[in-house]
Amino acid sequence: TSGTEKTTLEKKGIDYQQVYNTIADMLEENEDYDDGSYGPVLVRLAWHSSGTYSAADGTGGSCGATMRFEPEATHGANNGLAVARDFLEKVKAKYPEISYGDLWTLAGICAIQEMGGPIIPWRPGRFDKTQEHVTPDGRLPDAAKDQRHVREIFYRMGFNDQEIVALLGAHAVGRCHTDRSGYEGPWTFAPTSFTNEYYKLLLDEKWVEKKWKGPKQYEDKKTHSLMMLPAEMTLAWDKEFKKWAQIYAKDQDKWFEDFSAAFSKLMELGVPYAADTKVYKFKPTTA
Ligand code: HEM
Repeated sequence: TSGTEKTTLEKKGIDYQQVYNTIADMLEENEDYDDGSYGPVLVRLAWHSSGTYSAADGTGGSCGATMRFEPEATHGANNGLAVARDFLEKVKAKYPEISYGDLWTLAGICAIQEMGGPIIPWRPGRFDKTQEHVTPDGRLPDAAKDQRHVREIFYRMGFNDQEIVALLGAHAVGRCHTDRSGYEGPWTFAPTSFTNEYYKLLLDEKWVEKKWKGPKQYEDKKTHSLMMLPAEMTLAWDKEFKKWAQIYAKDQDKWFEDFSAAFSKLMELGVPYAADTKVYKFKPTTA
């Protein structure tokens, strides 16, 4: 194609790197929120919009962005995510052609990369669905439960043990909020830096039950300032899970590689792609 034709084509489409840069700039401009970044809550939105997928019947997943609707918007697991959805409305207003599913997943990847995480390949192609496609409550993990439940939830999406452990490392960033999940506190000392610190703390610190009126959770014995959920303590207790946690604690590059692959897969569950869909690797603005 000639230069002019190409420019016309690009004008019709959406410049996704530009969408990425817009979100990255908004993260920079809003450093007064929470621990200094909307990044973690954007990652949680991307994950909860994708994690409803069921491989058995192909329902759920990021294509459709049904969390815009009741009752999914107010499913207990999604408490607090209106903050992330509202934040991204400003981006939607600027790029009205982008689907909500593409916007939410792109934003999650942008947040991870801008917090120092790995490059995560992303493809557009999600389209908005209607309220009838809302999935039933209970498809996302319950933090109070054990490894049997964790496996049941992630196997339903089509993940294996290694991928489960790789994905959980995202708790390096962000925190629990009592007014959202009932739990309290961050997992790491630098909750806006995407590193393998989560695995190191999980395996190296001594974790004890927190004495409080809230739901059962663990705290580090040394500083009492970090937390672990019952469901994720299984990464230190279950033999197969622990094997991967140890590998990721020792080798951040290996974790980045495996996390990138697993998160990309998560974002794409159930999305009906054409074989020639372009793969984007966004350039971080901070590099
Ligand atoms: C936050 C549970 C897996 C990313 C949370 C919160 C809970 C939770 C209870 C606190 C929400 C709040 O109070 O604001 C779980 C359980 C999981 C799981 C039980 C699996 C067994 C994942 C996965 C990812 C993820 C796979 C991404 C790959 C996050 C992030 C936050 C978060 C980034 C912080 C949000 C913020 O700071 O606002 N998770 N999660 N989680 N989760 Fe998970």
